[in-house]
Amino acid sequence: MVLKVALIGSGAIGSRVAELLDAGTAPGIELAGVVPHGKTRTGFSFEEAMDVADVVVECAGVAAVAEFGPRSISAGKDFLVTSIGALCEASLRKTLLDDGPGRTFLTTGALGGLDAITAASAGGTIYRITVESRKLPAALIQPWMDGETKESLLEATRPVELLRGGPAELIKAFPKSTNVVSALALAAGDWDVVEAALIADPAAKQTTHHVLAETSLGLFDTRVTNQASLGNPASSALVPHAVVRGLRTLANANGSFI
Ligand SMILES: NC(=O)c1ccc[n+]([C@@H]2O[C@H](COP(=O)([O-])OP(=O)(O)OC[C@H]3O[C@@H](n4cnc5c(N)ncnc54)[C@H](O)[C@@H]3O)[C@@H](O)[C@H]2O)c1
Repeated sequence: MVLKVALIGSGAIGSRVAELLDAGTAPGIELAGVVPHGKTRTGFSFEEAMDVADVVVECAGVAAVAEFGPRSISAGKDFLVTSIGALCEASLRKTLLDDGPGRTFLTTGALGGLDAITAASAGGTIYRITVESRKLPAALIQPWMDGETKESLLEATRPVELLRGGPAELIKAFPKSTNVVSALALAAGDWDVVEAALIADPAAKQTTHHVLAETSLGLFDTRVTNQASLGNPASSALVPHAVVRGLRTLANANGSFI
């Protein structure tokens, strides 16, 4: 059986996922189409996706999760999410995780070690998770920043802590860059246990996430340094491969969780 995939978003992540699927890197998985963005929707539409796809893959941002997720799962389609921060919103989270008949899957994205946190959460207690993410200042400029803030960020010669807080605060201010914080909260099964710091670092050659998870089953100290995506220096080259890896697991359970 072939698993048919509809993509939402064809930026750095979505276009690479499409390339990988079209190149046949995932046998048994076929790209049915990419739902275009904007009012001039031509070609493949979301309605068509509902007719032909088995799984809808969101690579478009937190707003697109709310727009397409509930409709996908209520139509019986599985929904794979990259913009995990959208699940900070409690009613959307409940709909996506508890309703059906389609199922919601969350990609491991730019992080490693989520599996250990999930296992520790199931069998023990998560005391505290801290995550420090460092990115180049240019990758963290936001539309809500005023001119002076943008300028001082771009001219910074030392690391600047932009925000410290929980998943919801981070995703609201930096929606494209802090999905990992929500992923950690979901792995822990606790939205209050994660504290994140986002740092603009002019010396950062690549994006790094340093996660320290203190649990009753062990201390997990994980540092991931991601290569930037060729299409978007603010996005990680690992994420499309994490998405395709997730699709492969969905299409062809091979008995391994590694
Ligand atoms: N889980 C993780 O670790 C992780 C890591 C990086 C990025 N992300 C998420 O992935 C998302 C995509 O990242 P990217 O680097 O590809 O971003 P990008 O800006 O390069 O591409 C986003 C694409 O989505 C399209 N889009 C936006 N809204 C849409 C809609 N309503 N319908 C159809 N298309 C729509 C845009 O036109 C664009 O082509 C980010 O916004 C972020 O939320 C998650």
